Amino acid sequence: MTSRVCSIGLNGMEGYLVQVEIHVSEATETMVIVGLPDASVKEAKERVLSALHTLECDVTDQKIVVNLSPAEHKKIGPLFDLAMVIGVLKERGYILVDIPQDTAFIGAISLDGKINTIDGILPALIAAKKLPINKLILPYDERIPYDLFEDKIECIIVDNAHEVISYLEGQQTFSQFTQTPLTRKKQISKNDSINFSKDFQSIIGHKQAKRALEIAAAGEHHILMTGPPGCGKSLLSETFPSILPDLSREKALEVMALYQLAKESNAFTTQPPYRNPHHSASAISIIGGGSNPKPGEISLAHQGVLFLDEMSEFTKKTLDMLRQPLESGKVTISRVQSTVTYMSKFILIGAMNPCPCGYDGSSTKMCTCTPKQLTQYKNRVSGPIYDRMDILLRLNPVNMNQNFSENESSQMIKNRVIAARKQQAARYSGDYTNSNIPLEHLLQTSPLTSDQLNFLQKKSIEQHWCNRIQTKIIRLARTISDLADSSNFTDESLIEAVKLRQVL
Ligand SMILES: Nc1ncnc2c1ncn2[C@@H]1O[C@H](COP(=O)(O)OP(=O)(O)OP(=O)(O)O)[C@@H](O)[C@H]1O
Ligand SMILES: [Mg+2]
Repeated sequence: MTSRVCSIGLNGMEGYLVQVEIHVSEATETMVIVGLPDASVKEAKERVLSALHTLECDVTDQKIVVNLSPAEHKKIGPLFDLAMVIGVLKERGYILVDIPQDTAFIGAISLDGKINTIDGILPALIAAKKLPINKLILPYDERIPYDLFEDKIECIIVDNAHEVISYLEGQQTFSQFTQTPLTRKKQISKNDSINFSKDFQSIIGHKQAKRALEIAAAGEHHILMTGPPGCGKSLLSETFPSILPDLSREKALEVMALYQLAKESNAFTTQPPYRNPHHSASAISIIGGGSNPKPGEISLAHQGVLFLDEMSEFTKKTLDMLRQPLESGKVTISRVQSTVTYMSKFILIGAMNPCPCGYDGSSTKMCTCTPKQLTQYKNRVSGPIYDRMDILLRLNPVNMNQNFSENESSQMIKNRVIAARKQQAARYSGDYTNSNIPLEHLLQTSPLTSDQLNFLQKKSIEQHWCNRIQTKIIRLARTISDLADSSNFTDESLIEAVKLRQVL
């Protein structure tokens, strides 16, 4: 006879149902795992045999064959340990009831039969919602807000294999939901209490830059800042997260799952992520990859901000690899054995000097670069990347003799950003903002007048703008109109959007 136990396999963030088939027959004592297991799945052999021994399940002179189906997907990580133990216990008659096929078992097993959590539990839990299963038997992980899944899937939280057997035989019900919301609340308050040390109130001047960043936050537009050294580019960018709306709990979970897959621990938080990789970072660490593809910086910035300081210093190859994710909000990494897709929808903020010496176009200092140096420097960021930036912002040093109290606080700006995001949510169904809604849908919900179209056409011919830039201007204008609480495109919004793209 063969026992079948359901579990969940992961291919990036995508989950699929794995049938763990167990066959036990009399032969020399061995355990064989087939179905494309990686090294960590193969190691399950020793853990499972020890756990079975602790559970007093006799497997002497028994050959255990484990088949992980479907065989064509590579199985990664110790997610299947628990399902293997349960399958053998069933085969050997230690579990008498049928194993329910609408229930998936996930978790790593320790030598003494304890079920441990592992990185990958959260992505598996998120994936489970889309799979044809109703219940999940899994270990407790204090980082996971289980109650968020309550209405979609029943989570049975277990501590050891004995508890699983008792549960299957209907002796006890295990659930730690009552504990979980408390734990989560504690974590949220811990994270939310991180006050941003940086606030727009403490940045002197830069009114135009603050306005541009407000527009970028409201519509999730990308922005490239150029300016001489020390004018405040890094400062403005580092302050940007203070005006971003908090993430919904579902989005925060998505982000947390990506961090788990990248093996970067982070607690549940509704703050959008902010990543600023150094320009010397490798393309793989930024885009994602490796032999077992892991999410890179662009995925760790998902739902948040990717800040590329000194953008021109990044290799051209790395910058060009951003083209697909910037367009589609996800990145596909192909390897010989698997193709993995990770979400990577972020607001890109780039900062760079205008030239190698830093003072091209400066009103305070002479630029000492040759025309050749200037061209070479500008070419480091390729045309297609310039095209993908929505706002081009030129910064100049400000007069420091100004009063802080006249500045708006980040909270005041954030309130307007939240209001503009609400307008977009009301107009578009689904998780769209002005920067990523299909253009057709944007224009259906709020059309441009023929005068406005003519204005845009005239400007595009003047500036030699390609179609992508024209659509970006329409999207920017839509965000500016949202910030002005107008359901139609205002003429002023188009004029401002054109200026935001013209600055360089
Ligand atoms: N407008 C401003 N208001 C307050 N402080 C400022 C302002 N501009 C710059 N500063 C101060 O100057 C420091 C340098 O600014 P910042 O690092 O942002 O410059 P940068 O434009 O990124 O320069 P670089 O091109 O050399 O990277 C900041 O840490 C901040 O203390
Ligand atoms: Mg800087």
